[in-house]
Amino acid sequence: MITPVKMEDSRLWILDQSLLPGQEHYIELRTKEEIWAAIKKLQVRGAPAIGVAAAYGLYRAVRDLESANFQDFARDFHWAKEYIATARPTAVNLFWALERMEERLYQLREQADAETPWEEQRAFIKEGLFQEADAIRREDEQSCLAMGEHGLSLLKKGMGILTHCNAGTLATAKYGTCLAPIYLGQERGYQFRVYADETRPLLQGARLTAWELSREGVDVTLICDNMASTVMKQGLIDAVVVGCDRMAANGDGANKIGTSGVAILAKEYGIPFYMFAPTSTIDLDTASGEEIVIEERDGDEIRSLWYKRPMAPEGIKTYNPAFDVTDHEYITAVVTEKGIVRPPYQDSLRELIHGI
Ligand code: MRU
Repeated sequence: MITPVKMEDSRLWILDQSLLPGQEHYIELRTKEEIWAAIKKLQVRGAPAIGVAAAYGLYRAVRDLESANFQDFARDFHWAKEYIATARPTAVNLFWALERMEERLYQLREQADAETPWEEQRAFIKEGLFQEADAIRREDEQSCLAMGEHGLSLLKKGMGILTHCNAGTLATAKYGTCLAPIYLGQERGYQFRVYADETRPLLQGARLTAWELSREGVDVTLICDNMASTVMKQGLIDAVVVGCDRMAANGDGANKIGTSGVAILAKEYGIPFYMFAPTSTIDLDTASGEEIVIEERDGDEIRSLWYKRPMAPEGIKTYNPAFDVTDHEYITAVVTEKGIVRPPYQDSLRELIHGI
């Protein structure tokens, strides 16, 4: 299974997802500017994968700093962190991973042997930061496997499953969130029939989901976004599975633009709609979907995708929100690595995270 973000021989590599499915090309990221641009341009994308890339990226951005003391190191670290955080606003995993790295920085400062020269303490802190980023990646992989098992318990052999955007291995450390049960089912002979919405404007469904599922041998059919209602009406869909970029305390979930429309259709046709959200994506500090900042992207993505050839009149007015919020009332269940959560989400999400 392909790895979207990897550290090899102390070098940070990401698979450039903007080139898929035409080219499988890894690029090396070294500076905070390169990391910022890769996230902004969706060369690495998908909420958990953004978190992993940001954690490794922050470590990489400060690794060669030769700050004369901890205060200088912490200041440069903080600047790099704040800068990377501005790459995209919606997926909470970006901020979650960066915050976790900064908290770890101060723990490492406490743990460093104050009797040793600063250079040795600095090396200890840098190694600890690498270990933390690596832990974020490993935990995400484990979390995806757990979501796969929980998700599979909701599905039956031979089901037709609709998905929107890409919440697969490309969007995570490995396996994906909502595609993890599809991969587990594939290993266990479930013979799912997956329908992938193409996902305009940047075609994550066509370019990424259809690509990664088909190369693992999953039966996947690509449809245009405006065909979801037809396949539901024809009885081809038994469940909808999608990822999540940020889930508010009341269960409203932001995901790729178009998700909320699919959820509304699913309710109309009586089809269960499952949103997969690792706990790193659940943001109890955000009360409802209304508080989630929705990224608005360049209109050229609608006018010409990433190609030079226009698909719309030059300069035509556009509106290009990259995400929408699915109201909690349309979400049948939320699948997390800790288990399946059902309404009322205001209570069940809090209980899941805080145990009360
Ligand atoms: O703009 P993208 O491609 O980063 O959007 C990705 C999504 O909307 C995914 O569904 C979401 O991040 C969940 S990934 C497990």
